[in-house]
Amino acid sequence: MKRDNLSPSTRAIHTNEEGPRRNQPVAPPIYLSATFESKDIDEQVALEEAKADTFYTRYGNPTLSLAERVVAELESAEAAAVFGSGMAAITTSLLAHLKQGDHAVVQREVYGGAHRFALELLPRYGIEVSWFGATEPDGFEKAIRDNTRVVYLESPTNPTLKLVDIERIVSVSRERGIVSFIDSTFATPLNTRPHELGVDGVLHSATKYLGGHSDLLAGVVAGSRELVDRVKSFQRVLGGNLDPHAAYLLIRGMKTLGLRVRQHNDTALAIAHFLKEHDKVEAVHYPLLPSHPQYELAKRQMRGGGGVLSFEAQGGLEGAKRFSNAVSLIRVAPSLGGVESLLSIPCLTSHAMLSSEEREKAGIADGLVRLAVGTEEVSDLRADLEEALSAV
Ligand SMILES: Cc1ncc(COP(=O)(O)O)c(C=O)c1O
Repeated sequence: MKRDNLSPSTRAIHTNEEGPRRNQPVAPPIYLSATFESKDIDEQVALEEAKADTFYTRYGNPTLSLAERVVAELESAEAAAVFGSGMAAITTSLLAHLKQGDHAVVQREVYGGAHRFALELLPRYGIEVSWFGATEPDGFEKAIRDNTRVVYLESPTNPTLKLVDIERIVSVSRERGIVSFIDSTFATPLNTRPHELGVDGVLHSATKYLGGHSDLLAGVVAGSRELVDRVKSFQRVLGGNLDPHAAYLLIRGMKTLGLRVRQHNDTALAIAHFLKEHDKVEAVHYPLLPSHPQYELAKRQMRGGGGVLSFEAQGGLEGAKRFSNAVSLIRVAPSLGGVESLLSIPCLTSHAMLSSEEREKAGIADGLVRLAVGTEEVSDLRADLEEALSAV
């Protein structure tokens, strides 16, 4: 059977098979070692020069290499690098592609940490940043300058689930020689295929769906061998590496990605429809609801709507607080992408650092609740939501 014809979720299960298939462990070993012994000094020098994964773990490690191969398979990319957090993957990738005097164009709705990095840190190193809105027509084109080197995207966005038209952006960035990055955490490698659409570097907070069990912190970037090698050469200095034990958990999580994402997609869509019909709910944001302003783009760009939705209950912030205090199955916690459903109120948590005017501009109402739908039975989630909404 030709491996190239396998679907990404099957490849995530079978990537560890190398060499003859006899007496191999079905689950991969964990190389829980900071360093590796060489036969002699000449071999040690050769290993370092070859950037081998059996020299020193900040330079590489066989367990990390396996995690990287699985990520590359999932994104249909030549290569991938794994990091100790999503933020380490984002900041290292951007620093590797920008230098003093360069200009970057960044989508306004990106994750708070990435937003802050672009707003506060990049300018300190002489890198100029311009912003554009995901749904702004020609926003990216208008922001481009002669020294624009990078465009940074995220789709769907947190917490309002807006999409950016990836093909449209890429058609311009490619023509202008601008390196494109996208944070595809919410979409997962199964629901949107940014690299196949032409994005150069695909980033994930692997803490979320790739890990899938709320028990590890990790980040990844996938792209061409050249792009990934460049990022890794910065990672060796900046040091945002993943621990081999966490890499094992990530590999294990990615084996069930297909299974989990299918369930997240189905359950979140059912919950989005349930909330849309509920008389205590004023608005629901979910890419695959026909009422989503970018529904046509969502159908074109996404194979499933993902596990995150947001909604406004009646009563503004007070209503949202009453609702949050009344859930029993769903847990009040930041993060997303695990099998358990989690909720948060963005204006009090992830977006508390924005002024109320900035939040209003971004479409984040004070009463907005973000629900990261897990993989529980729809009937159990509906019952919990019904009970909590009766408190609103
Ligand atoms: C969309 C998105 N990107 C990046 C990050 C940062 O990832 P990490 O917390 O793994 O550093 C997060 C974290 O919540 C996120 O939601």
